Amino acid sequence: MVETVSHNTSAKVIPTAQFSGQKILVTGASGFIGSHLCRRLSMCGAKVHGVSRKIPPKEEHCLRWWQGDLADMQMVRNLLTTIKPDVIFHLASHVAGSRSLELVLPTFSSNLMSVVNLLTVATEIGCKRIVLTGSLEEPDLCNSETVPSSPYAAAKWASSAYARMFHALYQTPVSIARLFMVYGPGQQDLQKLVPYVILSLLRKEVPKLSSGKREVDWIYVEDVVDGLIAIAQTSNREGCTIDLGSGSLVPVRTVVQIITGMVDSEVVPAFGSTPDRPMEQVRVADTEKTYSAIGWKPATSLEKGLESTVVWYRDQLRKQKK
Ligand SMILES: NC(=O)c1ccc[n+]([C@@H]2O[C@H](COP(=O)([O-])OP(=O)(O)OC[C@H]3O[C@@H](n4cnc5c(N)ncnc54)[C@H](OP(=O)(O)O)[C@@H]3O)[C@@H](O)[C@H]2O)c1
Repeated sequence: MVETVSHNTSAKVIPTAQFSGQKILVTGASGFIGSHLCRRLSMCGAKVHGVSRKIPPKEEHCLRWWQGDLADMQMVRNLLTTIKPDVIFHLASHVAGSRSLELVLPTFSSNLMSVVNLLTVATEIGCKRIVLTGSLEEPDLCNSETVPSSPYAAAKWASSAYARMFHALYQTPVSIARLFMVYGPGQQDLQKLVPYVILSLLRKEVPKLSSGKREVDWIYVEDVVDGLIAIAQTSNREGCTIDLGSGSLVPVRTVVQIITGMVDSEVVPAFGSTPDRPMEQVRVADTEKTYSAIGWKPATSLEKGLESTVVWYRDQLRKQKK
């Protein structure tokens, strides 16, 4: 476990939040959603601690960094007993939807082991609030025959089950944010659909895509940050799963067409040049239920969110060329 400190003074927006002065641990802080969340929490005046296995080369936020693998119980114990966080946002995860056998162990270790380690120690030290990040990929209908669609889905599903068990048996104050398909500036896995299509088109390369028929609930990253914060600030939702999605299904093909129009590219995306994945989940967020539970609803339209995302990636490419 290694600790470093980084600072950033470029914060602009101060959102309403009750985290000022609180110690908050964000796992997966170097990741796509984690980095947006840390930025926002730092603006609230919270004492933010971030952990991941690698410290990002360009540390942006005013936060205290810890380096370590959450699948390692001793490291989790040292981390939590040292920080004694008031709130934990657990975002660390091996995020990969492929059905490949090679993903079984990494997803088990980084997704399920990390959750069990974290919930165990957080319960022992009496952490006041824990928010886990579940996924739309978890199977919906749960019976003894239910089959998760990927190693990632299985690990996320089991993580949610552990969270419910910890709450029921040990009164662990944990809630699960079920995230839908998150997109926005700063997505680091450039193979994910939105950055892949934007960057391909900006480079005048043909994006190779599946049929594009899958319908997905897309949600902008800053809306997700708002939702995670709202969950952490709401009491009486421990043990519950709360959807953070847009409440609408939009096919992949439509998203690609919107992006193509925004980039103003003559390149034509190649739909059907890669196979559709088996057992894709089609699930839409229950936004009414979420609103009545935590008072959150998404604020960013798909067009607006994609526009900001295209602008961000265009800027990144310009900076790289300089
Ligand atoms: N993005 C989406 O559309 C989406 C949808 C549904 C749910 N979610 C969930 O939301 C969370 C955040 O997703 P994201 O898109 O921000 O993911 P991401 O960009 O891939 O970030 C994952 C983070 O977890 C860290 N990490 C992975 N394994 C770790 C380990 N064993 N120990 C410590 N840190 C570890 C990674 O850093 P290192 O590799 O350096 O350790 C990285 O900081 C995840 O739990 C994901 O399952 C995301």
